[in-house]
Amino acid sequence: MEVVIVPDAKAGGELVARTLAQLLARKPDTLLGVATGSTPLPVYRALAELVRSGEADVSRARICQLDEYVGLPAGHPESYRSVVLREVVAPLGLSPEAFIGPDGTAEDLPAACEAYDRALAEAGGVDLQLLGIGTDGHIGFNEPCSSLASRTRIKTLTERTRADNARFFGGDVAQVPHHVITQGIGTILDARHVVLLATGEGKAEAVAQAVEGPVAAVCPASALQLHPHATVVVDEAAASRLKLAGYFRQTYAAKPHWQGL
Ligand code: F6R
Repeated sequence: MEVVIVPDAKAGGELVARTLAQLLARKPDTLLGVATGSTPLPVYRALAELVRSGEADVSRARICQLDEYVGLPAGHPESYRSVVLREVVAPLGLSPEAFIGPDGTAEDLPAACEAYDRALAEAGGVDLQLLGIGTDGHIGFNEPCSSLASRTRIKTLTERTRADNARFFGGDVAQVPHHVITQGIGTILDARHVVLLATGEGKAEAVAQAVEGPVAAVCPASALQLHPHATVVVDEAAASRLKLAGYFRQTYAAKPHWQGL
C-alpha cells in the first residue's frame, strides 16, 4: 500500500483530481467509484476545476456510488444519490444516466443489493474507487467486524457513525438512518485501483490501524493491505500517528513523476 502525505486537504484533493484526469486520458469511459461525506469534496472541486480549464475530459466518464442510506425518501437532500448528483454529477456536467447506485428505497432490499453488484460487473468493474474512512475504521459503511469477503448488502450503522454523520442532518442524530446499503469489502477490493483519502486529527488513529495494524475485520480499512493497487492519501494531521511516516515521505519524494499514484 502506498501512503502519500500531503500538507493539507486542498493539496490532497488536487493530487487525486490530477490522478483522475490522467486515468480519464488513458480510459475516457472510466467507471469512477465515488464516496460521499466531507473528505472527498476537495477532489470533486479540483476535478471540476480541471474540467473547466480543459485539463480533464469527463465527457465519457461514468460514476458509481459506494453506499446509500435505507429509509430516506427518494430525493431527500441527504440521500447519497442526491449528494452525488449535487456534488459530483452536476458540477462535472455529466448526465444522470452516467451514474449508477443502489436503490435504498427498494421494497426488496436484498434483491436491490444483488442487482447493484451485478450492475457494477456488467459495467466492466470499477476503475478507481475513492474512499473516505470512518473514525471507527469503516470503509463504505462496512462497520467493524464486517466480513472481509462481503458483497453489497444491508448493514446497521454504529452509534458512533450515526453521531459522526448527525452534522449532515442538522445535528439531530435521531434523523440519521440506522440502516444502509453498502458495497461490501470484497466488492470494494474488486476495483482496479483504490484511493483512500483521510484528513484531520480525528482520522489519525483509524489511519494508523488501517495502514500499520494487522489485517483484521475489526478495522475494515485494513483490508486494503490485501489490494495490489491501494493508495492512501493523508494530510499531516491524519498521518500524525503513523510510525513509518518518515519512510512514506522518503518513498514518495523519490518516486519518478511519470509513475503517478
Ligand atoms: C461515504 C462513506 C463513508 C465515509 C466516512 C468518512 O460514502 O462510505 O465511509 O467516507 O464515513 O466520512 P467523512 O469524509 O465525512 O469524514
